[in-house]
Amino acid sequence: MTKYVFIGFMGAGKTTIGRQLAHIKDWPFYDMDEVIVQQAGCPVGEYFDRYGEQSFRQLEVKVLNGLLSKEGDAVISTGGGTVMMPAAQQALKDSDAEVIWLNTPFDVLCQRLEQDTVQRPLFVNSTPESFYALYEKRLPTYQSLADHVLDVEQQQDILTAEN
Ligand code: S3P
Repeated sequence: MTKYVFIGFMGAGKTTIGRQLAHIKDWPFYDMDEVIVQQAGCPVGEYFDRYGEQSFRQLEVKVLNGLLSKEGDAVISTGGGTVMMPAAQQALKDSDAEVIWLNTPFDVLCQRLEQDTVQRPLFVNSTPESFYALYEKRLPTYQSLADHVLDVEQQQDILTAEN
């Protein structure tokens, strides 16, 4: 039983790549934000407004643990902040999951996020400087957790590979 877990900053392409990999493998795909929206019954932005970021983070850890302990193969795309929590890091370490960091340049992320219709509270409530600071702060954690690093330029090769 294999779990591929995509990590990386907002807008890195985790959902897109994760869904495509799951399709190629014919495995179930779980996007953590989607699972949370289903469980919470409201969009992520609204959840932040109503219950706060702390509560969202706790829910993320719960959802990640639940997905990692599911039977069978699966592809899981995390939210950009999921793996910042020590409990989430521990859950990944305790599992046999293959963690793939989608390393996407900051300017590409920003371009995508500006065009995206999904409300991301930490993006909309930031300045360019504070958003870059968050990106820089998170990079070492993504790097340290990654079993594999997927640079954005190589995405197409990966997706067309017969594996
Ligand atoms: C967040 C990333 C978002 C979502 C929430 C918080 C973050 O997911 O979980 O807005 O803290 O980086 P994506 O990485 O899928 O955009």
